[in-house]
Amino acid sequence: MSTIIRPAITDADYEDWRGVRIAVLPYERCPTVAEMRKFERPDRLMLLAEVDGKVVGSGLAVRSDDGERASLAPRVRPEARRQGVGTALLHALADHAIAHGYAMAGGGTDDEGSRLFAERFGFVETNRQVEQVRRIGIEPAPTPSAEYEIVSVAERPELWAAAYDRVALPTIPDMDVPSPLKVTAEEWATGWINDPAAMFVAVAGDDPIGVAGLLIDTDQPERAEVAYTAVRREWRGKSVAANLKRASMAWAADHGITEIYTWTQRGNDSMRRLNEHLGFSYGIVSISWQAPLPLTKVPAGE
Ligand SMILES: CC(C)(COP(=O)(O)OP(=O)(O)OC[C@H]1O[C@@H](n2cnc3c(N)ncnc32)[C@H](O)[C@@H]1OP(=O)(O)O)[C@@H](O)C(=O)NCCC(=O)NCCS
Repeated sequence: MSTIIRPAITDADYEDWRGVRIAVLPYERCPTVAEMRKFERPDRLMLLAEVDGKVVGSGLAVRSDDGERASLAPRVRPEARRQGVGTALLHALADHAIAHGYAMAGGGTDDEGSRLFAERFGFVETNRQVEQVRRIGIEPAPTPSAEYEIVSVAERPELWAAAYDRVALPTIPDMDVPSPLKVTAEEWATGWINDPAAMFVAVAGDDPIGVAGLLIDTDQPERAEVAYTAVRREWRGKSVAANLKRASMAWAADHGITEIYTWTQRGNDSMRRLNEHLGFSYGIVSISWQAPLPLTKVPAGE
């Protein structure tokens, strides 16, 4: 068996990379090649693992959303596991992160085998996220409010940039993560929205007070991921978030979407309760990890 780890460079490589990601995480939207090109950064590394000429694994090293760590994601197709491919990918990703000055690595796992793999390399748990899933049926539009209006970003495109200052910046620090996410205006414009018709803003006069919507999946058009949902503090407790989500669900019902899903941080009780109230049920639990670099391999059995 010969294993080759090499960078993904061409569009065909990116499609191979997506093929692994979709096989390993079939329940999660995978960015398109065009989206992945948009998020390119000098310190991002995308790898492919080939065994006997066939792509069986992929890797990603990228600055974490809070800027504190390198996020490392080795992934191996289920049929090619336990042959050292994940280890080879993880080492190549960690070497790259060290070369770019990172002292800490982060990662995430959704299954027991991957948890044991992460622990083997000295990763310790930092957080948990739960998947919440909602079947889409007949979804009534929200009752209009006298205090604010709900519009899509397709109807009023200028509101998305305005929502960065008015909604994103004041609410992102409220997320239950170890250190606050650092999101630039450009990342907000490109990575936090993909179809303006599926993204909704609650607006009081011309002032955005909340956002919610869906990220469309071109690989699985019948499933969509719930995008960032947030309401400014002074507007909380008035059903703005629930109504924004109802607008998204009504849009989903009109556009052939049969299921929507979201990941909620363990400590974010208010969002979990809101989703429960809207009929979401619980799915997979995902564990977030971190480990100092360079990684140390913990002997098996410890
Ligand atoms: C995690 C993952 C990349 C491992 O890939 P892999 O090629 O099977 O890993 P390796 O063969 O290099 O395993 C290295 C060691 O990790 C541990 N390990 C890996 N998978 C395991 C499993 N299912 N059960 C128990 N231990 C496991 C073992 O100690 C193994 O050594 P051994 O086979 O000599 O006992 C793969 O399971 C995967 O793609 N998971 C989904 C994506 C993911 O969660 N990635 C993030 C990991 S931080």
